[in-house]
Amino acid sequence: MENKTVIGFIGAGNMAYALIKGLLNNGFDANQINISDPNEELLLNRESELKVTTYPDNTALLSNSDIIFFAVKPQVLSSVCLELKGVVKSKHLFVSIVAGIRSSDINRWLGGNFSLIRTMPNTPALFQSGVTGLFANEVVDNEQKSLVESILSSVGECFWVNEEKLIDAITAISGSGPAYFFLLMESMKQAGMALGLDEETANSLSIQTAYGASLMANKTGKDSRTLRTEVTSPNGTTQSAIESFQDQNFEGIVANATRAAYDRARELSNELGDAE
Ligand SMILES: NC(=O)c1ccc[n+]([C@@H]2O[C@H](COP(=O)([O-])OP(=O)(O)OC[C@H]3O[C@@H](n4cnc5c(N)ncnc54)[C@H](OP(=O)(O)O)[C@@H]3O)[C@@H](O)[C@H]2O)c1
Repeated sequence: MENKTVIGFIGAGNMAYALIKGLLNNGFDANQINISDPNEELLLNRESELKVTTYPDNTALLSNSDIIFFAVKPQVLSSVCLELKGVVKSKHLFVSIVAGIRSSDINRWLGGNFSLIRTMPNTPALFQSGVTGLFANEVVDNEQKSLVESILSSVGECFWVNEEKLIDAITAISGSGPAYFFLLMESMKQAGMALGLDEETANSLSIQTAYGASLMANKTGKDSRTLRTEVTSPNGTTQSAIESFQDQNFEGIVANATRAAYDRARELSNELGDAE
């Protein structure tokens, strides 16, 4: 089954692109990837760049795919599912990457109790450096779990959770997380320029520092607090900066921001699905 499995992406936007690019870069066959989207120009671009098969119609994509990834904005997911209702077969396996929308609501819209894996990937999938949280509903069997994990692990690391609400926590940390690091890099670049560096140098320093710090955390296996302590000499320059961050409640700022993302995911669940 695995070698012939056809994956269909409903929604050909940023996240579908990142996942498909990651899959192709990792040797996945473009003939086994379908996409559908109402934007004809986008479909043409995707077809010419990625060599995948495109469908302007979601039901046609469904009929020609085994695993269906929902990669649309949360606000349009119910209409997409309602359109598929009646065409869906029990053999189909659904994977949602949509923030906030509960698996029970998706299944209600699809009109049955289908195998559904709710996931939260992130955009570094584009370079096989993503991280994805996954939650399987009770209908999903081990073979389906392995299949989806093998697809998503080709674009980064995978972590299963056994409580669906933890997907909202993963959304708040890694789903939205790349933007937090971009904000930090942007701020460091601006700060460097304020200290007299030219824009290009300040930009490269901030990017390379973020990359190097992440690599160190990854390769040494040390936790980030230990790494920070090791590079913070008493009374040195780093200590001055860290104390300034901490005086302004850096940890609290991060905790509040991630809580806001988590709350927004829960709000989306309640706004767009059945209230819990
Ligand atoms: N971007 C991220 O970092 C990230 C990370 C994790 C998860 N996600 C989740 O991934 C999902 C997609 O995000 P995205 O950033 O890829 O959004 P996006 O770039 O806006 O892509 C969504 C695509 O779906 C298309 N679409 C709209 N209605 C459709 C329909 N009825 N049938 C098929 N396609 C339709 C949109 O077309 P139009 O533009 O013409 O409407 C657009 O091309 C979201 O639910 C988000 O929560 C995103």
